[in-house]
Amino acid sequence: MAGDSFDLVVIGAGPGGYVAAIRAAQLGMRTACVEKYPTLGGTCVNVGCIPSKALLDSSEHYERARHGLAVHGVNVSGVSLDLKTMLMRKTKVVAELTRGIDGLFRKHRVERVVGSGRLVSAREVEVRGEGGPRRLTAERVLIATGSKPAALPGFEVDDRRIIHSTHALSLETVPGRLLVIGAGVIGLELGSVWRRLGSEVTVLEYLDRALPGVDTASAKLLQRSLERQGMAFRFGVSARSATVVGEEVRVEVVGAPGEAGAAGGAPETLTADVVLVAVGRRPYTDGLGAAELGVKLDAKGRVLVDEHFHTSLPGVFAIGDVIAGPMLAHKAEEEGIACVERMAGVAGHVNYASIPNVIYTHPELASVGVSEDEARERGLDVRVGTFPFQANGRAKAMGDREGQVKLVADAATDRLLGAHIVGARASDMIAELVVAMELGASAEDIARSVHAHPTLPEAVKEAALGVAGRAIHI
Ligand code: FAD
Ligand code: NAI
Repeated sequence: MAGDSFDLVVIGAGPGGYVAAIRAAQLGMRTACVEKYPTLGGTCVNVGCIPSKALLDSSEHYERARHGLAVHGVNVSGVSLDLKTMLMRKTKVVAELTRGIDGLFRKHRVERVVGSGRLVSAREVEVRGEGGPRRLTAERVLIATGSKPAALPGFEVDDRRIIHSTHALSLETVPGRLLVIGAGVIGLELGSVWRRLGSEVTVLEYLDRALPGVDTASAKLLQRSLERQGMAFRFGVSARSATVVGEEVRVEVVGAPGEAGAAGGAPETLTADVVLVAVGRRPYTDGLGAAELGVKLDAKGRVLVDEHFHTSLPGVFAIGDVIAGPMLAHKAEEEGIACVERMAGVAGHVNYASIPNVIYTHPELASVGVSEDEARERGLDVRVGTFPFQANGRAKAMGDREGQVKLVADAATDRLLGAHIVGARASDMIAELVVAMELGASAEDIARSVHAHPTLPEAVKEAALGVAGRAIHI
C-alpha cells in the first residue's frame, strides 16, 4: 500500500531518531518515525536531559533562596518547598517540548507512527500500536532505539524505595536518606537535586574516584565542592544487594576488589529511605527483531555499525545510544544527521574528538577533547594552562568563585587538544572551545580573541594565555 511505503523508516523518536527524521524529510525523503511511547523526544526529553535540568534549576533556586542571598544583602524569610509545584513545572516543560516535536514533524511532513516497531525484514517494519498491527515498507530503516538504565544484580527496582533515574525525577516526598549507587553523571546530578531539597545524600562508588573518564583533577574539584555542600561519598565500595524492610532499605556493601574497601573488606549494612541505582545505561534492542535478522551486536549489546552507520544488514542503519560511543543527546543528534545525509549523498560527518560532555551540578563540569591524564597516558607532549574563577572579576561580582578553566594544548603546534571547566555556567562556556577545536585553533588564537569584560569566559582567555605562561591576572 503506497501510504505505508517510505524512503526511510526511523524506529525511535529520541534526539537521535526525531532529528534524523526531520533532516531526512528536509533532504526530500518520504519519512516515517515509529515511537512506542505516547510522546516524542525519547529518554532525553521525557525522562532524561530536560526533566533533570528542570529540577536542577528549580532546586538551585531553592538552595539559593535559603542560603545564597544574604551575602548579597537580600534577606528572605519563610522560604519553603512546594515540591508538587516544582514537579508540575518540570512536567509542563517536558510537555511543551514533546508537543513542539509533534509540530516539527507536521511542519516537515514526517509521519508519526505510534506503536512498537519490529523489523520483519531489512525493508519491512511491523508496528504494533493501539490501532492494531501495521506494516511499513522502506528503502532504508534507521534504528534509534536508545538505551535503558542498567540493572544491578541484587537490586530489584520497585519504583518506590529502590529506583532508577526515571523515578528519581518524580519522587512525591523528599527522602530523609538517599543512597546513590554510582558516582557517575546521574548520581551526581540527581543526588544534587535531592540534597538541595533536603535529603541526606550518600554516594557509593565502586572505583576510587567520581566520574571515571573525566579529567581527574577537575572531577576532584567538583567532588570537593559537592562534599562542602553536604553530599557524602564512599569510594572503593561494591554494593551487593538491597532489601526493603518496612519503610527502609538495607543495602549490603563490601570493599571493591583491589580498593581500600568498606570496613576493611567485611560486609557492611547501610540503611536508607530510598536507593537510587545509577550504574550506567544499556543499549536497548528488546523486541526489535534486529538480532534475529542478522544485525550484529557487540559484547555489550550495542548495534555494530561501519563509518556510515550501516549495520551488518544491508539497508539497515543505527545511531545514538544504541551504538558505541558516549551516551549523549547531542552525539545521537549529530549521528542522526550525518547518517541520513550520507544516505542522500551529502557528506555528513561527526567529529568524535570534539563532543562536549557536561555535568549540570553546581558548579558545573564541562569538558571537550583530551584530558591531562589521557595526554600523559598517550605520551602526548602537551602544555597546560589553568585559571581559577577566584581571580575572575565577573565570578567575584556574582559571588560564584569556585572552579577553574584548564586548557590542554599540543606543546609543538599549540593546537588546542582539550578543555575542562569546573564552574558556574561551564555548560555555556564550553561552546567556545568546541568551536575552537573544530576550527583547529591554537591556544594563542583563543588568547588573542577579544573576550568581553567582565565575563566568565575571560577565564578561558586567561587559561589560554596560561598555556604560554603569560596569564595576566594571576
Ligand atoms: P533515546 O532518547 O533513548 O530514544 C529512543 C526511543 O526509542 C525511545 O523513545 C523509545 O521509547 C523508542 N523505542 C525503543 N524501541 C522501540 C521500538 N521497538 N519501537 C518504537 N520505539 C522504540 N544527555 C545529554 O546529552 N545531556 C544531558 O543533560 C543528559 N541528561 C540525562 C539525564 C538522565 C536522567 C538520563 C537518563 C539521560 C540523560 N542524557 C543526557 C542522555 C540522553 O538522554 C541520551 O543520550 C539520549 O536520549 C539518546 O538518544 P537516542 O535517540 O539515541 O535514544
Ligand atoms: P555512568 O556510567 O556515568 O556512572 C556509573 C557509575 O557507577 C560509574 O562511576 C561506575 O564505576 C559506578 N558503578 C558501577 N557499578 C557499581 C556498583 N556495583 N557499585 C558502585 N558503583 C558502581 O552512568 P550513569 O550515571 O548511570 O549515567 C548513564 C549515562 O547517561 C551517562 O554515562 C551519560 O552518558 C548519560 N547521562 C548524561 C548526562 C549529561 O550529559 N549531563 C546526565 C545523565 C546521564
